[in-house]
Amino acid sequence: MKVYIKAVGSYVPEKKLTNSDLSKIVDTSDEWIVSHTGIKNRHIAADNEAASDLATKAAQQALDSAGMDAKDLDLILVGTATADFPGFPSTACIVQGNLGAENAGAVDLAAACTGFIYGLEIAKNFILTGSAKNILVIGCEVMSRIIDWKDRNTCVLFGDGAGAGIVTANDENDNSEIIFSLLKAEGTGARYVERTAGGSRYPIHPGKPMEETPYTKMDGRKVYTFAVRVLVDTVNRLLAHKNLTIDDIAYIVPHQANLRIIEAAAKRLGYPVSKFYMNIDEYANTSAATIPIALTEMVQKNLLKRGDIILTIGFGGGLTYGGNLICW
Ligand code: ACO
Repeated sequence: MKVYIKAVGSYVPEKKLTNSDLSKIVDTSDEWIVSHTGIKNRHIAADNEAASDLATKAAQQALDSAGMDAKDLDLILVGTATADFPGFPSTACIVQGNLGAENAGAVDLAAACTGFIYGLEIAKNFILTGSAKNILVIGCEVMSRIIDWKDRNTCVLFGDGAGAGIVTANDENDNSEIIFSLLKAEGTGARYVERTAGGSRYPIHPGKPMEETPYTKMDGRKVYTFAVRVLVDTVNRLLAHKNLTIDDIAYIVPHQANLRIIEAAAKRLGYPVSKFYMNIDEYANTSAATIPIALTEMVQKNLLKRGDIILTIGFGGGLTYGGNLICW
């Protein structure tokens, strides 16, 4: 049996925040942000929008595109680092209720920016074992709620958005398939990018000063070095698994964290940057959502056709990383 991504969908909030807008909030400039990251713009959720609202819209688009009803779903997997609530209910359960997916189980995946990559491979294996037929995999984030808008080191990097994919058995007589995945972690680097307040390590005690900041902290240099290394390594390992070369690949779809990470990886691999699909200029880093947003955009732009072989590569908090070799 082949398991494939039948359809994708995405949603980004309407409100835009440009580099020039940001330069009025913190000591930064369009020139610095573009030259250090490639980011020009990001989309920011409305005050009444949480992760599940973005996710539900992306999911509905994916369901419509697949010609499926929410009742056809057996499982909903949501990759997010910005769940509606810090513990429970999960964002996946809220999405399940919103969609009316009454036959589906629902669970969140905490793999930060690698959440969608993990979700695709988990979904594939549930289908291969016969535990489920149709699985909705979502990456959704409202990063704007967990960054310190006074910290120029982090606030310029992130945006909000959601993307979704329907994973199911391929009944067509073609090659479309999630061929092979790598799911990896380096927990020894757990503290290079973190948001620690409010968990069981640093609980919030009402009325007392918080021990830890509620915002995202990051050692940018360490994450940068890690990201370039694992991006290169994951591309090489996915290609080697099936004895493929870069000429067999239509696109590499990397996590959109920083244009310079992608340029450095392309240089080390000896590939043209044009092999990498990029839209970081418009959306910035939407964590688990960057890859499904990119896939949806590529389908809408007719850049992705059935039969194309692509690599999706993720890396981020955890530290986690991984990739999927996909025949679209
Ligand atoms: N505007 C202007 N100046 C700035 C800004 C800004 N927004 N941010 C930092 N600077 C300054 C610094 O203060 C520093 O000044 P100094 O030399 O006077 O001290 C200078 O610019 C250089 O700072 P660096 O941190 O060395 O800048 P660098 O070139 O390393 O870029 C960046 C920083 C963009 C964060 C980079 O390290 C990076 O992309 N890291 C990886 C981030 C990433 O991939 N995160 C993904 C994981 S996130 C997740 O999983 C949720």
